[in-house]
Amino acid sequence: MSYDVERIRANFPALQRKLNGQPIIFFDNPAGTQVPHSVIERMNEAMVFKNANLGGSFATSVAAQQLVDDAHRAGELFVNAPHAGEVFFGQSMTTLTFGLSRTICADFPPGDEIILTRMDHDANIAPWLMAAEDRGLVVRWLDFSEESFEFDLDDLGRLVTDRTRLIALNYASNVTGTINDVAAAARIARDCGAQLFVDAVQYAPHGLIDVTALGCDYLVCSAYKFFGPHYAMLWGRRDRLQALRAYKVRAVPDELPGRFTTGTTNREQLAGVHAAIDYIAELGADYGRPAGSDRRSRLAAGFAAMKAHEDGLTRRLIDGLLTIPGVRVLGITDPVDFSRRVSTVSFVADGIPARQIASALSSDGIQLWDGHNYALEIYRKLGLLEAGGGLRIGPVHYNTAAEVDRTLERLEQVIGG
Ligand SMILES: Cc1ncc(COP(=O)(O)O)c(C=O)c1O
Repeated sequence: MSYDVERIRANFPALQRKLNGQPIIFFDNPAGTQVPHSVIERMNEAMVFKNANLGGSFATSVAAQQLVDDAHRAGELFVNAPHAGEVFFGQSMTTLTFGLSRTICADFPPGDEIILTRMDHDANIAPWLMAAEDRGLVVRWLDFSEESFEFDLDDLGRLVTDRTRLIALNYASNVTGTINDVAAAARIARDCGAQLFVDAVQYAPHGLIDVTALGCDYLVCSAYKFFGPHYAMLWGRRDRLQALRAYKVRAVPDELPGRFTTGTTNREQLAGVHAAIDYIAELGADYGRPAGSDRRSRLAAGFAAMKAHEDGLTRRLIDGLLTIPGVRVLGITDPVDFSRRVSTVSFVADGIPARQIASALSSDGIQLWDGHNYALEIYRKLGLLEAGGGLRIGPVHYNTAAEVDRTLERLEQVIGG
């Protein structure tokens, strides 16, 4: 079937909402996507039919256990985990990262080194900075180019030493949209005996993740960025996770993933994460060309179908932004290089505070973000942090060309005066 954005939109109740008679335009997707009917229904179903604690002999407990097991298998499939038990879930990427970073760094001797980047969201910086402070570690910084908005990975090669223990890197930036070469970074990490922790929160809504091919040690993402509920998951290499000390209650067995599952997991959220993964696979079956009949092939086809649609919108958006006098796009603009960016587009307008522009558009039901988006290092480096950061428009597979055009039209009025 050819891509049918109106049919896709009909699956999302929130996309039917209006403000002052105008349909709301959801371009705040990098901060959180809307949710299809199928996710909402599966979460409701969990609360009605699977609402019991685990380990009982009665039917509702057995059904709840099945839900939890199925969600773990779906999470493993989503990232192509080589072994069962390597994925566990938690409240948010930030919470999971703070939690695991404590134990990852617990035995790093003072004076050993970690590498952080100036392109990361603070959730993949602050936990490591605080661990470094606790342990007396040296922090080294990987910088990006202000022209290309990319890293030069030769710089990473120069930063590592025989004392480097960990590199924390994003798969895609929540501001520039740059997709980073995680596989190359993993090779550098491996060569010096360091571990690579990947923040895939902004890549997960746009591309198929394959931790096996990437060769990283840990990878984390959040389902509310890929059409699911506010819940996150972390994959870790089995040998790494088994070697770590788990902070857990004594009654919980030492096996994975239980040893990193603190307390009772949120059943309805797990059902929602699973349903969101199924939703992308169904998109693949409907609009893509799956290489096989299995769910991973359908997932790959779903991402390919979304990316093709998103690339068209990104091009239209960037082309339009570049015609507005005084607008500067903070990321890759040449469509030839779109394989190295997701659809998240940030920009600034000379002399006009981002908040002023976002507020003007919000009264027309156009939802987009202004500010630093927690990417403090990016905006500090670009000298825009004190001035209120930038604006961010993040089209996804359910957005339309007409929405891009309406947004550009309003931006021209507001910025052009
Ligand atoms: C790149 C990136 N990393 C981490 C996070 C934090 O994720 P969470 O809200 O699940 O803690 C975000 C949130 O926007 C993000 O964009």
